[in-house]
Amino acid sequence: MSTAQRIVVVGGSGFIGRHLVARLANAGHLVTVTSRNPSGHGDLRLLPGLRLLQVDPHDPAALAAAFAGADAVVNLVGILNERGFGGKGFRRAHVELTERVIAACATAGVADLVQMSALRAGEGDSHYLRTRGEAEALVRASALRWRIVRPSVVFGPGDGLFNRFAGLLRLLPALPIARPGARFAPVYVGDVVEAMVRCLERPDTAGGTFELYGARIMTLREIVAYTARHLGLRRWVIGLPDPLGRVQALVGDLLPGKPISSDNFRSLKLDSVGSRDGLAALGIAPTPIDAVVPQMLAGGRHQARLDQYRQHARRR
Ligand SMILES: NC(=O)c1ccc[n+]([C@@H]2O[C@H](COP(=O)([O-])OP(=O)(O)OC[C@H]3O[C@@H](n4cnc5c(N)ncnc54)[C@H](OP(=O)(O)O)[C@@H]3O)[C@@H](O)[C@H]2O)c1
Repeated sequence: MSTAQRIVVVGGSGFIGRHLVARLANAGHLVTVTSRNPSGHGDLRLLPGLRLLQVDPHDPAALAAAFAGADAVVNLVGILNERGFGGKGFRRAHVELTERVIAACATAGVADLVQMSALRAGEGDSHYLRTRGEAEALVRASALRWRIVRPSVVFGPGDGLFNRFAGLLRLLPALPIARPGARFAPVYVGDVVEAMVRCLERPDTAGGTFELYGARIMTLREIVAYTARHLGLRRWVIGLPDPLGRVQALVGDLLPGKPISSDNFRSLKLDSVGSRDGLAALGIAPTPIDAVVPQMLAGGRHQARLDQYRQHARRR
């Protein structure tokens, strides 16, 4: 490892964050995770040297205090859906929060920032991708030594992709999906984390934007069918034509947690595939889906069976 760094990860309590901070802490870096609600993530404190702080990321003073003495900050905050409509929530989570992170880095004297973004940021008409693009522009215009990583959809233990479809497929005999032909190049969370670690450890990555995608391009329909196959389930995957997909998204807008939303539908109009191989540029060979997902889903099946036994036992 290069010299130990003090690294603050904003939004480090989520799927990618948990993998990243474990990797950083185990490599000897001194990691601080800021969270709006640390009580739900106390297990992170088991990682060597990790500090978990309650911080409102929209409070400039609190953010600057959390960044004090740090060498680098990683901003992982991102949302796929906002509470209301019209883009205000996306703007707050992506643009305003990035503005605050950059300002707090300046106040605290932090020189390096790794900004999480997404493939196709700034393109299309979804609030999600537009505000991602605006946040990238703020980072590029800053005086920091910045790096931007732009993954396609990310898979691995705890993901919201294969695991999410697995949950739905276990429940439903048929799964209607909007934009079934939308293309993705799923990238392994371990590779995304490794890319971020190299960004943090290698000064020559400064000013770089790294598109992170896997070797296999899959449509949404193929991802769902792959999941069903590896769960050993025979399911009917119904690709909705766009007018029906739009209706499904409008209904989803009104459901708690927005399982699908009109903004998701708009972002699915763009394929989440890249053209400049950031993993290769960082010397990382992409991990194949087949090397991770079948085992991960089999583990989930085992867990689901255990849960069933527990429920039966409780009823008796
Ligand atoms: N997963 C993917 O496939 C994928 C693909 C491309 C890009 N990305 C991006 O990668 C980043 C991490 O993704 P992830 O899957 O790990 O997401 P995640 O599990 O939802 O974690 C994101 C973290 O950000 C914080 N957060 C969420 N909403 C927030 C808000 N409104 N204001 C402030 N903080 C908020 C949360 O931390 P606290 O609740 O502890 O504060 C949460 O733990 C996101 O920016 C995401 O958009 C993910």
